[in-house]
Amino acid sequence: MKRHPRNVPEHKPHLRADVAWALHQILDVGKSTNEILPIGIARYQKAEDKAWFQECLYGCLRDVPLFQHWTNLLLTKSLDNKGKIAEKLIMVGLFQLHAMRTPDHAAISETVNAVKIAGYPRYSGVINAVLRRFLRDKIAQIPIDVPHIRYGMPKWLLKQIRIDYPDTWEPVVKKSNEKPPIFLRINRLAVEPEGYIETLKSNGISFEKLSEFSIKLKQNINVTELPGYADGAFSVQDYAAQHSARLLDPKENESILDCCAAPGGKASGIYEYCPNISNLLAIDSDQLRVNRMIDNFKRLTHTADKLQVRLDDASTFSTLDDQQKFDRILLDAPCSATGIIRRHPDIKWLRKRADIDALVAIQKKILEQAWQRLKEGGTLLYATCSILKAENVEQICWFLSTHSDAEWIKIHPDESVNQPGWQILPGEKEMDGFYYAKLRKRQT
Ligand SMILES: C[S@@+](CC[C@H](N)C(=O)[O-])C[C@H]1O[C@@H](n2cnc3c(N)ncnc32)[C@H](O)[C@@H]1O
Repeated sequence: MKRHPRNVPEHKPHLRADVAWALHQILDVGKSTNEILPIGIARYQKAEDKAWFQECLYGCLRDVPLFQHWTNLLLTKSLDNKGKIAEKLIMVGLFQLHAMRTPDHAAISETVNAVKIAGYPRYSGVINAVLRRFLRDKIAQIPIDVPHIRYGMPKWLLKQIRIDYPDTWEPVVKKSNEKPPIFLRINRLAVEPEGYIETLKSNGISFEKLSEFSIKLKQNINVTELPGYADGAFSVQDYAAQHSARLLDPKENESILDCCAAPGGKASGIYEYCPNISNLLAIDSDQLRVNRMIDNFKRLTHTADKLQVRLDDASTFSTLDDQQKFDRILLDAPCSATGIIRRHPDIKWLRKRADIDALVAIQKKILEQAWQRLKEGGTLLYATCSILKAENVEQICWFLSTHSDAEWIKIHPDESVNQPGWQILPGEKEMDGFYYAKLRKRQT
């Protein structure tokens, strides 16, 4: 089970210095934006500073190879091994000059100032020179023909996406680098959906209604400022993930297991879809994420006893009674998260090729264990936010070929016996990349 030590910048709050710190934490130390972003934005009061921090951090993360390529072109000699923060500040400076509306002189002088605040004043000259040379030599206009730099991807991942999607890899990669929209799932147990939609309209919020309970925001907004947030009127959930409850299709009096459940987006959706279930057990192996799930359920007012949250490892289920079985199981497996790179660009740099084999192995283990916990005649919905075939269609083909009591249930017209499961690609109907496969356990 995971522990999470505390980690904050040592210098006083300064946007550019803080983004460089965050980039260092992610790219050199290996932390995720999920951990680092909240620490960074908590250092600012104003909404525009929080937004600037996020835009700059995510913008740098989307195009790391490009900024590294430019840095290599511009530096006359490489930085020494104390220059990690300076290197990240060059990235921050280049991103501002290339993609942000900051005036050039302010971008350069504030970035030079940041390196002093971050405690590395001896790099101020080199940062100043590199950023000025970037503008003077019109470096951004030099064509780039190296694929992984052009597409802002690690080499191994670009190669794998090209293997998995020989015809459509280019839009898949491009969409993965675009900013995604925000989708909301209205909590029908807390508010009356039509009434809530009217509230959004009367507050001047621009949105598109996708279904009775689903909307896509058409403006960039801090969701905590939307009406009803604190009262649990909605969850923020990508539209691809919102399909999970309908596909699992829980029924009255059934027992449900969500075995990799935190922070509870899909579990709460399942409960809202069918509150008359007998019980829903939401398990996760990460204590911090379990805590977040508890908080989320409270905000959504999902406090019924039938909704239970538990810390456990789904590859062993050590807290379950030997005989405890469920009518329906959602297995939203730990995965490469390659379908949600547009929301979490750090994934591109944190994931390594070797992680995929390890993830496939743990998915197999959890699938095996979850299957043991499914009643005969019960259904299991396997889901990932991955686009890699090894974690999706190949995983399900393996499972079907090794479990004679497993029967594939078609949920989407594109599925076939050789290609079971519904693969949503990033950007398809504006959704995240996602995979669903539904299996039934035969009665013996
Ligand atoms: C894709 S996320 C789940 C997202 C969640 N279903 C939702 O919709 O909010 C995968 C989760 O699996 C959890 N996990 C990883 N390995 C696990 C294991 N062996 N047992 C239980 N949970 C695990 C992770 O902590 C993570 O929260």
